[in-house]
Amino acid sequence: MSKVDLRIKIGSLELKNPVLLASGTVGYGNEIANFTDLSKIGGIVTKSLSLKPRPGNPPQRITETPSGMLNAIGLANVGVEEFVKSKIPFLKEVNSTLICNIAASSVEEYVECTKILTSEESIKAFEINVSCPNVKEGGLEFGNDLKAVGRITAETKKVTSKPIFIKLSPNVARISEFAKVVLSEGGDAVSAINTLVGTSFNIWTKKPKIRNITGGLSGPAIRPVALAKVLEISRNCPIPIIGIGGILTWQDAIEFMIVGASAFQIGTANFINPNSGLDILKGIEEFCIQTNVTKISDLTATYQI
Ligand SMILES: Cc1cc2nc3c(=O)[nH]c(=O)nc-3n(C[C@H](O)[C@H](O)[C@H](O)COP(=O)(O)O)c2cc1C
Repeated sequence: MSKVDLRIKIGSLELKNPVLLASGTVGYGNEIANFTDLSKIGGIVTKSLSLKPRPGNPPQRITETPSGMLNAIGLANVGVEEFVKSKIPFLKEVNSTLICNIAASSVEEYVECTKILTSEESIKAFEINVSCPNVKEGGLEFGNDLKAVGRITAETKKVTSKPIFIKLSPNVARISEFAKVVLSEGGDAVSAINTLVGTSFNIWTKKPKIRNITGGLSGPAIRPVALAKVLEISRNCPIPIIGIGGILTWQDAIEFMIVGASAFQIGTANFINPNSGLDILKGIEEFCIQTNVTKISDLTATYQI
């Protein structure tokens, strides 16, 4: 039994600890299960699920960059139906909280996916990935459009009683404005941040290193940006925040909690050390003991400015 109360609450969702595994970096949990004890992790966020299966982009889809990586996977996934049929049975065996991440190309598709998945008892919350092109609006990302983010929040809330987290794009001028819209439309939390747009070129061929030309930058390179975004939300909007972006160590995770995160997600770090979630949890617990923190949730938003 831990000396520190590691439990946290986000809306009506209770987690045994604040460590979540980030969407797209652990598949549907199955890809990492042999390398870490998923039953000890606070929760798993699935790869983004869309209504129909998606093959994703052609390779090259990933390239390493200084202190990070660029990816343009193109939301490859099995689709909600196949997910329910073939992935949920495995996830049920793992005693970890399941959060389903949803991607879509229209508001209606977000709603339809949420509606289908909400009847699955093992799914405890939804994370909505708004960093997707809105096909009906000429491909502008939902995550860049305050009205669209508000509509997605309001419409998905109507079809489920489970918590809705909106995963915000950092590629905007004032991320806190998006958090305010999510709060006012009934969203339970925001996840911040998704990847930053980046690119990289081969100097000899003069071609982009990834086929899609641009990709999403993740890893320690984005951590200061992510921390600034979380802090901005925390100072301007009273909505729970799930911090994401370049967490490699327990110190990084604590930094996110101090600037306002209630929980946090581990993404790119899983590719370096698939057990990093549990290593980070151990480090935080020891930090709490050392600094006389009895409840981990007491660390949230304790910044001194
Ligand atoms: C290979 C890869 C695939 C990803 N796929 C998704 C995805 O399907 N949906 C999503 O919301 N975020 C996706 N992300 C973003 C991560 O969940 C996370 O927000 C981002 O990588 C920043 O965290 P990190 O620096 O700890 O990796 C992906 C990231 C990577 C590296």
